[in-house]
Amino acid sequence: MYGTEKVSEDAERTAFRRAEKKYKLYYEDTFKSSKKKKQLKRVDLSEVLDFKSILDSYNQNIQLSQGISALQCGFNRPVFCLENRPERAVNVNDVPPLQCLRFYFIPGALSVEEQCQWIRDSLTSFPQPPNRTNHNAIYGPIHDLFVAAKEKKVLVEEESSLPSLDSGANYCVKNGDSHRWKFCEGHLAILSGKTGKSVSAQVLLRKLRWSTLGLQFDWSKRNYDVSLPHNKIPDGLWQLAKRLAAPAMPVGEEFQPEAAIVNYFGLGDTLGGHLDDMEEDWSKPIVSMSLGCKAIFLLGGKSKEDPPSAMFLRSGDAVLMAGEARECFHGVPRIFTDEENAEIAPLELQFSHEEDCSFLEYIRTSRININIRQVF
Ligand code: OGA
Ligand code: MN
Repeated sequence: MYGTEKVSEDAERTAFRRAEKKYKLYYEDTFKSSKKKKQLKRVDLSEVLDFKSILDSYNQNIQLSQGISALQCGFNRPVFCLENRPERAVNVNDVPPLQCLRFYFIPGALSVEEQCQWIRDSLTSFPQPPNRTNHNAIYGPIHDLFVAAKEKKVLVEEESSLPSLDSGANYCVKNGDSHRWKFCEGHLAILSGKTGKSVSAQVLLRKLRWSTLGLQFDWSKRNYDVSLPHNKIPDGLWQLAKRLAAPAMPVGEEFQPEAAIVNYFGLGDTLGGHLDDMEEDWSKPIVSMSLGCKAIFLLGGKSKEDPPSAMFLRSGDAVLMAGEARECFHGVPRIFTDEENAEIAPLELQFSHEEDCSFLEYIRTSRININIRQVF
């Protein structure tokens, strides 16, 4: 599901894959001395739905395009609802489907201050054990990665048979087998690096792709492993998810946020087309928030053969997927990190007031997505 521009042979086999290819950062060009050459390309963004301009038009009482409706549901802003994916032909004789698409878009759902807070949490507290990250499989639980990256620490492998020099240190990690990984000062790592493996915390931070909160998702089995140790979804996120989910909830029911996946994207990172089908009850929405650099989101149909709709996701936007939208392929083929397209000036301004510039540095070239689910 996660990729860094790996192009498979069947890259153009389905309409969804063709759209992914259209919007991704690079294309594979010529074969030069048996190596595929990657070319930066210009992308035609004219077909990408832009809910920021849809909101502007709506605020000026301009009629919405066919297939998009606006709901007023107790927020201080409208919630847009995609009724049918725009390019899907609608036959006038068709009986309306019993269950409609129920894809909701709330542009600017989060204030700049809220966005900053969720970015801080996503980088500091959310990846802390017992929450798991993509690094667990290799390094075991890692504590305080963001701080270690700021301090230019290096994660060094030690043989566990050797007594640890500072087994009481905060930064000690263990992955359950015969190896032990420990953060060291950069210069000490150069010395110890002669015998064991080492990797800088900055590299690990750049390669952080996901962390899981609440009930832990097991990617290898593609299900929730309730036996894994876990904390409850943090209070603030719990409250926010309930509030955002409300427009997509069955009448009289309240959303129960039980699990969240935090996705981290750097330049060239993509999230391939997939379904989120491991939750028991699909009548409950998935609540998804975007932070940092702007992205392109693809919402397809139930088959990858259905041509997807592309839309921009900006920092502060929230998306709800309920009903039929729960059964639709979706993914993120592109994030924009250039100044013109990233659209993070308000975030940059807010972070630039802080003495600690590490959040500003990270978010300038990154996107974070927090995806909250009710599992049972
Ligand atoms: C997911 C997902 C979308 C996004 O994590 O399942 O679909 O906007 N994320 O990153
Ligand atoms: Mn998803």
